[in-house]
Amino acid sequence: MFLTILIALVAIGTLTYLYFKPEIDACFERDPSTANLVEILLTYSGLHALIAHRISHQLYVWQIPLLPRLISYLAKILTGVEIHPAVKIGKGCFIDHGAGIVIGETTVLGENVTLYQGVTLGGTGKEKGKRHPTIGNNVVVGAGAKVLGNIQIGNGSMVGANAVVIRDVPENATVVGVPGRMAKSQGLGADEISLNHSGLPDPLTQSLQGFQKKISDLEAELRKLKEQTSSSQKHS
Ligand SMILES: CC(C)(COP(=O)(O)OP(=O)(O)OC[C@H]1O[C@@H](n2cnc3c(N)ncnc32)[C@H](O)[C@@H]1OP(=O)(O)O)[C@@H](O)C(=O)NCCC(=O)NCCS
Repeated sequence: MFLTILIALVAIGTLTYLYFKPEIDACFERDPSTANLVEILLTYSGLHALIAHRISHQLYVWQIPLLPRLISYLAKILTGVEIHPAVKIGKGCFIDHGAGIVIGETTVLGENVTLYQGVTLGGTGKEKGKRHPTIGNNVVVGAGAKVLGNIQIGNGSMVGANAVVIRDVPENATVVGVPGRMAKSQGLGADEISLNHSGLPDPLTQSLQGFQKKISDLEAELRKLKEQTSSSQKHS
């Protein structure tokens, strides 16, 4: 009996590994705390959500009624990640921490996308039809970020934690803040993934620093003019 269970577990593990190799490799590559394959297979709720989604999406494509939504609902209860069965997800997706994530019906995810906890890929509430975002390859969406509406996030871009993005983002850009503003326009190469969130620039601070510099320049100019005027008055 014990042996049968063991063989069944090993068989399930091997099949999962074969079918989800890019997603498992992504766990190794993008989670520095990853210890080993068994730990990933047993404890990564993001991976479990992707496995459930692969099944529900296939059933959805075959137009099986109700079952895809049921699987998606059960996966949400178990993993904290709600993915509509219609969502298209490319290879190598990595959902870190898998909690509080919502991915709406008409969302499309490219390859090697990384999503952190609390991400919403949703609608604005006023669009119909394709109303959710299209996320390019190698995009990283930081914790708590909301990407809303039928917008495109270009390949290789990064969305900062807690940003609310409601406009298209070009390739290799970095967007931060609410509403999302472009902080960098040429960040990564389209086939690189950066998980460095600590170095994201703050566009508001940058523009304040710009004003500060302009004021200092004007003050210097004014001082110079005053000096010139007072010296010309002395001479006359
Ligand atoms: C706010 C909201 C309702 C849109 O309202 P709206 O009046 O139609 O807004 P508009 O698109 O005309 O934008 C008006 C301004 O608000 C800004 N804005 C819109 N949504 C915003 C948001 N969520 N956060 C910050 N600013 C926002 C826009 O940038 C725009 O600013 P601008 O005039 O300086 O360019 C919508 O964007 C939103 O956030 N809906 C919630 C959707 C949600 O929670 N979805 C989850 C689904 S799972």
